[in-house]
Amino acid sequence: MTDPMLVPRVDELTRASGAFVLDPATRVSAPDELAGELAWLQGALRPATGLPLREGPADGSGITLDLDPSIGAEGYRLEARPAGVRITGGDPAGVFWGMQVLRQLLPAQVMRTALVEGVEWTVPSVDVVDSPRFGWRGTHLDVARHFMPKHDVMRFVDLMAMHRLNTLHWHLTEDQGWRIEIRAYPLLTSVGGWRASTQVGAGPDATQDGRPHGGFYTQDDIREVVAYAAARHVRVVPEVDVPGHSMAAITAYPRLGVGAVEVGGTPVPEPRQIAVGTEWGIFDDVLNTEQSTVDFYKDVLTEVMELFPGEFIGVGGDECPKTQWRSDPRTQELMRERGLADEDELQAWFIGQLDDHVTAAGRRTFGWDEILEGSRPMSSGTTVASWRGLFGAVAAARLGYDVVACPDDQVYLDYRQSELPNEPIPVSIPLTLADVYDFEPVPPQLTDEEARHVLGGQANLWTEHMDSPRTVDFFAFPRLCAVADVLWSDAPRDFGAFSERLAAHLARLDAAGVEYRREGGPLPWQERPGVPGRPSTREERSAYIAEIVANIAVE
Ligand code: ACM
Repeated sequence: MTDPMLVPRVDELTRASGAFVLDPATRVSAPDELAGELAWLQGALRPATGLPLREGPADGSGITLDLDPSIGAEGYRLEARPAGVRITGGDPAGVFWGMQVLRQLLPAQVMRTALVEGVEWTVPSVDVVDSPRFGWRGTHLDVARHFMPKHDVMRFVDLMAMHRLNTLHWHLTEDQGWRIEIRAYPLLTSVGGWRASTQVGAGPDATQDGRPHGGFYTQDDIREVVAYAAARHVRVVPEVDVPGHSMAAITAYPRLGVGAVEVGGTPVPEPRQIAVGTEWGIFDDVLNTEQSTVDFYKDVLTEVMELFPGEFIGVGGDECPKTQWRSDPRTQELMRERGLADEDELQAWFIGQLDDHVTAAGRRTFGWDEILEGSRPMSSGTTVASWRGLFGAVAAARLGYDVVACPDDQVYLDYRQSELPNEPIPVSIPLTLADVYDFEPVPPQLTDEEARHVLGGQANLWTEHMDSPRTVDFFAFPRLCAVADVLWSDAPRDFGAFSERLAAHLARLDAAGVEYRREGGPLPWQERPGVPGRPSTREERSAYIAEIVANIAVE
């Protein structure tokens, strides 16, 4: 009797004899509080099995869902016997994760979306007791560099849920595109939602494709994605990135840019017109810090908070060059008026204004680790995404802020997947499946008390070089399976055992139509021959990060 091959790993699994077989008489039942979970289960199992799975009496036969608050958040027990399957969750999320495991216990063809003939739909007899190590098990998805249509975002949410990942950090604005409709400022999407051309490749030999690229989500689209994710116990954390990475917004509303206001506060009648970014990188065109700009972004965040009911609201804060602020007399005047010693303090002031707005609305500010710079305390609920290695995680936890670990050298899934020369548009250091499986969100130098601030971790998918959902599949999978495994399970790492489980799991990804990277390397159509990348060594990457984290107070 081999154990079922589950990804992520479950805490405890015991085999018993026999199996439960789904057939036309199988009934499903749940208390009223689990009506949504029951509906999801029927929707997940009916297409491939072709079985009606009608609701029936909760007499222990068939599949029964139930709640037992003594189990704890997101935890569940699953008991499968020839007579029936029972999933008991500590909360509805726990029931949902148990149902995902039930789906993995069935033949892999259950992941297909239309009738599969000739399969016996068996669930081996098991007892599973399981709960997650971390409450934040996330994926960051950049839909700004390349727009991802809403149906593909929802498919991605389904793939996250399959892996018991519960947080989608949705990066909605960038230099190269603004992707969320804001009613108060329609030009953000009509002007900022598309660019004239796109850089192809990285480094000095990159070219332009000369082809417009764009797209945005209407507010109804956003509500749909948020509701779709909520039904799968995936929370969506939106991010509007400021004060850098804002060229699309400045293109739409040039008054947001530096130089739009003169010394003394008089607006320039026709401020400099820039264009939505067509190249990848970090750019000097950043927001000005006028009160009017702060107010503009408060309006934006007010609409964002209406659309996203969750606790966390992202304000970005990463990679804001201070070049324009330093040379702009009006910015220097504002700094003097506000009593700010330098441009880092100005950035902290700007983020602080939005933090106040988010906090006043009863939410928590979420930002990249740069929000720790500038020696201005954030609100106590602020949560920091540590991306420049784990420097930010250590600093934030010691300052008493919560932390989400997403160190670039462990879980940046846009980084190349091996040293092979045919990896498509290879950037930065290689992060193999084994490297990613080694991801440890809690920095060893933290005390137990400090480590409690680490809510969990996430893998980041930046899409400069992912121009379609197919390419996102290639970069995300199977590395995201490894991330999910280590964020869910606190068992000692065993890459050999993980690889065995993954080998079986790939049949599920195949059935679900996921175009993951093969172990041996990219398939010919996953390569990008002739398109330059910008690979670096670990030493080069470490030197770069050391330079840019100099501002974070770690010790
Ligand atoms: C980032 O990678 N700029 C957060």
